[in-house]
Amino acid sequence: MGAKNFTEIGLPAARRHLFLCVGPDCCSADDGQKSWEHLKASLKSCPVPMMRTKAACLRLCSEGPWLVVYPEGVWYAQVTPERFDRIRREHLEGGIPVKEWVRAVQPLGG
Ligand code: FES
Repeated sequence: MGAKNFTEIGLPAARRHLFLCVGPDCCSADDGQKSWEHLKASLKSCPVPMMRTKAACLRLCSEGPWLVVYPEGVWYAQVTPERFDRIRREHLEGGIPVKEWVRAVQPLGG
């Protein structure tokens, strides 16, 4: 796979950027990969353009897979594929975070 430009990676259209930690310390590598594959497949049909990044560690190292949603800076714990579906529906498309799974809210920039 060759180099890409910003348009090809979806930057100009992106409304959010998601980071998902796939373990292996906060969750098993297998569970992390399952959540990642589900997230990727799910976002292909999402009407809201988003960027996504697979992270190897977000330094919490328990209760993963962790999902961080920017620009809001919402941190979700234990994001299984099933939980991601609800996060997608209510937060990513509906604009309202799923409070019961939010562990921190920290928008960057002060
Ligand atoms: S391995 Fe996921 S937070 Fe460290």
